[in-house]
Amino acid sequence: MKGIACCLSAFLLLLLPEESAQGKAASPTPAPPPNCPSSAPPSLSLTSTQCGQSSVLRTRQTWLQWMWNSFTETFMGSQDLEREEGGGLIFNGAPATIAEAPFMAYIESFFADGSGAACSASILSEKWILTAAHCVVDSNNAFAVAAKVYVGNADNRYGALHDADSVARDGAFNINNIGNGHDIAFYRLATPLTFSPSIQPICFPTTDTVLGTAISDCDQRIYGWGKIDAAGQTSTNTLQKLNVTVSADVSACSSLTDETVVCVRGDVANSGACFGDSGGPLVVRYNGRAFVTGIASYVVGGCAPGIDGYTRASKYSALVQQAAVSGAIDSSSDSIITQALTPGLSQARLLEGYH
Ligand SMILES: *[C@@H]1O[C@H](CO)[C@@H](O)[C@H](O)[C@H]1NC(C)=O
Repeated sequence: MKGIACCLSAFLLLLLPEESAQGKAASPTPAPPPNCPSSAPPSLSLTSTQCGQSSVLRTRQTWLQWMWNSFTETFMGSQDLEREEGGGLIFNGAPATIAEAPFMAYIESFFADGSGAACSASILSEKWILTAAHCVVDSNNAFAVAAKVYVGNADNRYGALHDADSVARDGAFNINNIGNGHDIAFYRLATPLTFSPSIQPICFPTTDTVLGTAISDCDQRIYGWGKIDAAGQTSTNTLQKLNVTVSADVSACSSLTDETVVCVRGDVANSGACFGDSGGPLVVRYNGRAFVTGIASYVVGGCAPGIDGYTRASKYSALVQQAAVSGAIDSSSDSIITQALTPGLSQARLLEGYH
């Protein structure tokens, strides 16, 4: 397999170092354990709301049922909310509703040179949006000057618009060496979100067992507004989902040995993340609660049948805590760098402007 990788924002193409793509022989598939662990991993408390709620019941839920589920989850432990049928675009995925993925956000970053990047993202709290670092910087690692965040709608033309007033990223990220990891960033919203069945925070794990076999029976899925063909040319406005499996072997997509990246493969042939899915979550559901276990960073070998590199979320929980808990970023920290943005800066939509 050639070592060609693309980071997944709508307009960037990057090369991974050749050694990153070596050693890609299929690893033996371990026998899966009988069940997904019933206990979720510990997660950050980024908001007073129960994180990871979504409405994916087979029967149609009413507002009341949804409130009841929220109530019972909070006070009586989680219910089995993930009983959805079907599935199956992302490339070769299936359309998703916002009710099943209310943590999704569509983002547009605008750079000083007039270019932009369209990416996917997830909601951490009323004020904080999680995405990939390569979505918030230009090819010189310079931050965007403005960003728009759309939430609450599976169609990225119709989400509710929130301007970002601040951006932060892992200071060790370098867009010219995306194989080195640290591909994680945050936008802070100028106005807080109001949670509803279509706008919810995702859970952010502080640890995970994603590289072992313990979650291989859990629902593992990627979401995003990226291209839906292997060539990375066909756009969709509709959120897509795809069942995936995390490889136990990090060397399948990365040369890093610090386990800060996880490798993800689509469960059906010729499927995977593509341009525009960048920044979107790899979601693992524990008893129906959605955890962001990875953040879409790059693909090795093209949109299909490649393997995708996702930033391993739990390895960055301290960074997220620092960025999002207090509602302010401690810019004195050398691990985070941050910049103020200009809310309301007039910018054309990027919807038809994938580069
Ligand atoms: C995706 O996974 C879910 C839960 O594991 C399953 O119910 C569904 O049938 C899968 N979809 C496809 C297209 O395989």
